[in-house]
Amino acid sequence: MLKISIIGCGNIGSFLLKSVKNKILECEVVSVLDKDVERVEKLRRELNMKFNIARNINELIKNSNLVVEAASQDAVREYSAEILESGCSLMIMSVGALVDNEFFNRLRDICIRRNVKIYIPSGAVAGIDGLKAARLSRINSVSMTTRKNPRALNLPDSSKKIVYEGSAGEGIKKFPENVNVAATVSMAGIGIENTKLRIISDPEINDNVHEIHVYWDFGEFKIKMKNLPSKENPKTSFIAALSAIAMLKRISEPVEIGT
Ligand SMILES: NC(=O)c1ccc[n+]([C@@H]2O[C@H](COP(=O)([O-])OP(=O)(O)OC[C@H]3O[C@@H](n4cnc5c(N)ncnc54)[C@H](O)[C@@H]3O)[C@@H](O)[C@H]2O)c1
Repeated sequence: MLKISIIGCGNIGSFLLKSVKNKILECEVVSVLDKDVERVEKLRRELNMKFNIARNINELIKNSNLVVEAASQDAVREYSAEILESGCSLMIMSVGALVDNEFFNRLRDICIRRNVKIYIPSGAVAGIDGLKAARLSRINSVSMTTRKNPRALNLPDSSKKIVYEGSAGEGIKKFPENVNVAATVSMAGIGIENTKLRIISDPEINDNVHEIHVYWDFGEFKIKMKNLPSKENPKTSFIAALSAIAMLKRISEPVEIGT
């Protein structure tokens, strides 16, 4: 059975724990690390689970095959190299941290040397399978539009407006907690410099909407996701947590469906 440890028990991490508790996901949770220790303790009591509460990264990785990061880009920068060096694979939700090429290549080299893997779930978007296939031919353009309520973007409530338009790379720096999806789309497709991103703040919507338009040598495709935000964190779409669970199932189950 897959033995996982989790960094971050906020919205995504706590949903993962609940899914293990309710046997939606068949795996063992060994340890959980969160800078808010009281939050982990409270969750462990409420769920009546037996995982360890790790105080540092060494305690977290002990006896685990895979660590799930569901915390922040800082956590990815701080812990990833050590986790991979220890021989544990790593699932990353805060994908924006990987757009730093030097950092990404360093982690990739560790994966090759230590025979471990980094897993990046599709998160709040669909269509990653199409991008991965199309890039084997030639992708001419990828443009992405994200619409969110100003509350989810940490912006003052005002009229509907474009708050960012440019490369995905710059957009991820400006809105690090909101456009992890742009990082995932860029990595699966044509990179952060060539992927175009527009972010719209719209006080009249409550959904998180992502539209992706891809032109490639043998056609085009459009994907529109209209996601309801999680109750606990309006920045995070509920489907992102489900996507992490779907990927863990894919790793642990005998049959894989989809590219
Ligand atoms: N890939 C995607 O499509 C996608 C979608 C939604 C969210 N995300 C990202 O996933 C991450 C988790 O999202 P969430 O909604 O669960 O967030 P959240 O704010 O609800 O929870 C994050 C938890 O991590 C803890 N934490 C943060 N930094 C830490 C650190 N350095 N060390 C230890 N603990 C730390 C916090 O105390 C908190 O309990 C965020 O970075 C978010 O941007 C990715």
